[in-house]
Amino acid sequence: MQPMKLWAGRFQKELDKKTNDFNSSIAFDSRMAEEDILGSMAHAAMLARQGIISDADGQAIRDGLAGILADLKSGALAIDPDAEDIHTFVEGELTARIGDAGKRLHTGRSRNDQVDLDDRLYLRSLAGPLRAQLTELIGVLCNKAEEYAGAVMPGYTHLQRAQPITFGHHLMAYAEMFLRDIGRLDDAVRRMNVSPLGSGALASTTYPLDRKAVAKELAMDGVTNNSLDGVSDRDFCIELSAALSLVMVHLSRFSEEIILWCSWEFKFIELDDAFSTGSSIMPQKKNPDIAELVRGKAGRVFGDLTALLTVMKGLPLAYNKDMQEDKEAVFDAFDTVKMCLTAFIPMVDTMRVLTGNMRKAAAGGFINATDCADYLVGKGLPFRDAYKATGTLVAACIEKGLTLETLPLEEYRAVCALFDEGVYEAINLDRCAALRRVYGGPAPENVRAQVKRVRALIAG
Ligand code: ARG
Repeated sequence: MQPMKLWAGRFQKELDKKTNDFNSSIAFDSRMAEEDILGSMAHAAMLARQGIISDADGQAIRDGLAGILADLKSGALAIDPDAEDIHTFVEGELTARIGDAGKRLHTGRSRNDQVDLDDRLYLRSLAGPLRAQLTELIGVLCNKAEEYAGAVMPGYTHLQRAQPITFGHHLMAYAEMFLRDIGRLDDAVRRMNVSPLGSGALASTTYPLDRKAVAKELAMDGVTNNSLDGVSDRDFCIELSAALSLVMVHLSRFSEEIILWCSWEFKFIELDDAFSTGSSIMPQKKNPDIAELVRGKAGRVFGDLTALLTVMKGLPLAYNKDMQEDKEAVFDAFDTVKMCLTAFIPMVDTMRVLTGNMRKAAAGGFINATDCADYLVGKGLPFRDAYKATGTLVAACIEKGLTLETLPLEEYRAVCALFDEGVYEAINLDRCAALRRVYGGPAPENVRAQVKRVRALIAG
């Protein structure tokens, strides 16, 4: 049996059963039960303080709601799947428990400002743990970067070996991205953390509500400034989903690199068995499924963002039922990113870094060619001439199956008389990486300084 509808007085018939299922949001908004109850407790206390309801009713409502919350937590009370939404369910249960006082809770309030408040409070509660996961990931990156501050690897452009960097530097590039992600999350939460309660259905109310007091009790930073905007704003869902989409862009790029690094073509890392999978047919396989799934799930989160943007783009002010679609999308975005990080962090933490292979790849890719040219510049040759001479040397190496390190000095001198023994020191990979110590560069000492700076940031 469907519970009695809030609007039963106006209607002659019950809502069609299948339509009720379609209309109902209880399947997903029951996640906000606690926030709904806390919001109602703050509202009721304010109503009593303002003399809008009696102190006795205010107290009965608060006690009743506290009892409902405790029973939901203990499992003594089950949520009715036929209820229209969590707001209706809680109010109905309250009235069943405390009688008429329960019917006074909704004075000066609408489900439109109520659901908006619940959204904000609930999403705030998800943002904190997600922030903690990002912080944990950055911490893991710092530890690994410190360990591999001096591990020379080829840096790439166009996925072609380009110039020498260090693995620590490469990892700290991701730390920077995740730091920005935290900043975006914090920023979105800051804008979201204001109370719309008091906006009513759309036009506020004639009751003398103390909106600021309710916001304060709920640890919010203030109140919305316009009742129409208060009930129809879902920017915060979109902002959060956009921030989460960028987290997924970063996780997906990182995953892509991990997948490449695991391949026999690179073999820069090996994933721990606990974070890899095998094949049902090919006994030799060790697959980076986790990284691939994270890369794939990025699409899902972008879909959530697209859904939200599309739901909102044509809505006239103020509330429209379309907005009920906000929850599944933004909740899914949070759930997905949380799941991805839960698998991704220990996968990165436990990966084995094959520094020997990185160095071999660095040695084979002529990534010290720029340094060779710079050496000639140091001898007085204009850079363009030095660049050309080095290009000729690289071509000679390729033809002879040699590297710049193994090419004999006569060959160097045949191309340019300015070369002497010192060239081998100039193109030494460790030196090439260590000399790139301009701020933001890959030198081991820079990586250590960067780790220190980032650690301080995430600690503070
Ligand atoms: N379940 C609804 C939602 O999520 C609650 C608000 C209902 N308001 C209304 N006027 N029908 O948006």
